[in-house]
Amino acid sequence: MFETLKPQPADKILALIQQYRDDPRDNKVDLGVGVYKDASGVTPVMRAVKAAEKQLWEEQTTKAYTGLAGDPTFGDTMVKLVLGDSVARDKIAAVATPGGTGAVRQAFELVTRANPSARVFVSNPTWPNHLSILKYLNIETVGYRYFDAETRAVDFAGMMEDLNTAKSGDVVLLHGCCHNPTGANLNMAQWQEIVDLLNAKGLIPMIDIAYQGFGDGLEEDAAGVRLVASSTPECLVAASCSKNFGIYRERTGLLMAISQNASAQALNQQTLAFLNRQNYSFPPDHGARIVGMILSDDTLRADWKSELEEVRLGMLELRHQLATELQRLTGSDRFGFLAQHRGMFSLLGTTPDLVEKMRVDAGIYMVGDSRMNIAGLNTKTVPLLAQAIVDAGV
Ligand code: LMR
Repeated sequence: MFETLKPQPADKILALIQQYRDDPRDNKVDLGVGVYKDASGVTPVMRAVKAAEKQLWEEQTTKAYTGLAGDPTFGDTMVKLVLGDSVARDKIAAVATPGGTGAVRQAFELVTRANPSARVFVSNPTWPNHLSILKYLNIETVGYRYFDAETRAVDFAGMMEDLNTAKSGDVVLLHGCCHNPTGANLNMAQWQEIVDLLNAKGLIPMIDIAYQGFGDGLEEDAAGVRLVASSTPECLVAASCSKNFGIYRERTGLLMAISQNASAQALNQQTLAFLNRQNYSFPPDHGARIVGMILSDDTLRADWKSELEEVRLGMLELRHQLATELQRLTGSDRFGFLAQHRGMFSLLGTTPDLVEKMRVDAGIYMVGDSRMNIAGLNTKTVPLLAQAIVDAGV
C-alpha cells in the first residue's frame, strides 16, 4: 500500500528553517518562519504564561477529558478577547482547536458540509497553508487582488472589483489584522465597504486572526473582525494564541461560528463539536487552560498585556530603524512602506531571484516571495539587511 504514496510538496516556510540551520555562516539572519524573537534571538516564554503554568502545576488535580469544545473558560475569555461586546454570546458557537491552523481547517470543513459548492476567495497573496488546506479539502479557490506592487499597500480597488465577481454563498477569507505575508492592512473605512459588499452579495466572511496585539494594539487589531462579526448574518472566525501568547508548540486556537439566532447557534455548536470528535476528539488543553487562566485573572492579564505591548512596540521600532537605514543608504523614501506595514511581516515586493541572491551573498533568509519576519531582526542586523537589500539591487 505505502508504495502508492506520492511525495508531498515541502512547505516553503518550514523548509527555510532547515536551510538556515545548515548554513555555517555566523552573520546569517533568519527572517523566515513567523515566530517572535527578542533582541537576543530567543523566543521567550511570556512571564504570565510561566506564572500560570506554575499555578496550574500546583493546583491541577486531574488530566481527565474536558468537553469536545474544550475548556469553557478558554472559549468564553477568547470570544471576549477577539469579539469584545460586538456580538451577543448566545449567537456564537465556539470550540477550541489545535492552534489557529486547526481552526482554519475546521472552518473549511464546516464550509464543505454546509455548502459543498461554495468557492473560497483568497487574497493574492495569502499564507501558503491556506491554499494548501483548501486544495487538500478539494475546495475551489479564487484569488482576489490585494497587494499593490507599486505602493506596497492594499490594492483596495482591485480587491473590491474581484470580490464583486463572487456569487451568493461563496466564502471570503480575510486576515483580521497583520496580513500574512504582506503586512499591508485594511483601514476601517475599507472594512466597512467590505461589509457592505458581503451583505449586498450574500457572501460569507471567514476571518483568520493570528496576530492580534502585534499590529496597532489588542483592541485596534480586532476592530475589523468585530465590525464584520456584528454586521453580517453569518461569519466564521479562526483565532490563534500561538503568537500573542507565545505558545506556538502548545497548539492553541479557537474557531467561532457567528449566526443570527440561538437555534442556529446550537446547531453550529453541535456541528463544531462533531467535527472536533471526528478529527481528533478532544482539543489540546494545556495551552488553552493557560490562556483561560491569564485572561480571567486581573494580575496575570495585566502582565501579559504589558509584555505583549513591549513586543509590539519593539517590532514597530525595528520597522522604523529599517526604513530609516534604507532611506539613508538610498537617499529615497522608496522603502517607507516598511514603517507603514503592521504586524510581524512585510512583503519586500521583489523577485525570488533577488531573494536568493540576498541569501547566497549575505546570509539573509526570507521566504521566496520576499516576506520578511521583522521580529527576526535586531539593532545589529537591521544595517546588514538594509545593505543586502541595496547590494542586491532591490
Ligand atoms: C508563518 O506564516 O510563518 C507562521 O504562521 C508559521 C507557519 O505555520 O507557517
